Amino acid sequence: MTREKTTIPDLRARKGQGQKITAVTAYDATMARLLDEAEVDILMVGDSLGMVVQGWDSTLPVTLDQMVYHCQCVARARPRAHIVGDLPFLSYQASEEQAVLSAGRLLQEGHAESVKLEGGRTFAPTIRRVVSAGIPVMGHLGLTPQSVHAMGGFKVQARSEQGARELLADALALESAGVYAIVLEGVPSEVAALVTSRLSVPTIGIGAGPETDGQVLVCYDLLGMYRGRAPKFVRRFAELGDGVVEAARSYRSAVQDGSFPGPQHVFGMSQGEQLPEELRYGGDGEQP
Ligand code: KIV
Repeated sequence: MTREKTTIPDLRARKGQGQKITAVTAYDATMARLLDEAEVDILMVGDSLGMVVQGWDSTLPVTLDQMVYHCQCVARARPRAHIVGDLPFLSYQASEEQAVLSAGRLLQEGHAESVKLEGGRTFAPTIRRVVSAGIPVMGHLGLTPQSVHAMGGFKVQARSEQGARELLADALALESAGVYAIVLEGVPSEVAALVTSRLSVPTIGIGAGPETDGQVLVCYDLLGMYRGRAPKFVRRFAELGDGVVEAARSYRSAVQDGSFPGPQHVFGMSQGEQLPEELRYGGDGEQP
């Protein structure tokens, strides 16, 4: 059976249906194809690429041009999964107009199908404006990595009663502004469960416990390719990092001991062609 393209109405309809939404980050066409084969619902071209692809220690250096480029790479895989493009730091905070233009670039040039932006109540007017331009918006609350300095590090948010109330107020404001889903990152599971129960749009959790309407993970985390200490919320569903090191070691040995390339990996000259004697054996025609 061929799988249909996942749309925003499909994702919205999953709320409360019991079938959770699965989202994974993807930054290139090869990964997008593999994840799409696994039938995940959302490929999220996250600005986490600043850390896991570019090697920065935060997402702040990522530019809109780079996000457009990575959205294009994922879109060329023509996935069935819905493609979300992340609006990077300083591409939407300056004004509502800037937000519409940046979001528009992710759709028009990057071929993303919706955008995600970080922030609570204060971004409700911005979200309303982007949505009114016909661009679907996913919200992102809780641990919002673009505010790493304001938060004093990558810290779990909404751990107090006051924090939980603020998060709920933010989520309700985003829902009224027209988001179709909200990522809840790094918040206590009971707070994520409360917010999820009060919203009519789906929540997608990362480090937010099991009671959200879906989950998202960074692809390299779920594949076990990250070599540093993974955050507590990460489950490694494979150990491909070890597999990569093992494969590269075997390659190195095979090159060094001459077993690669083997006869099955080489090309011959065209039929009827051969090297003349004088070119063989080092150019002097002398056999060693
Ligand atoms: O940047 C990102 O990849 C994200 C997801 C992990 C939610 O924001």
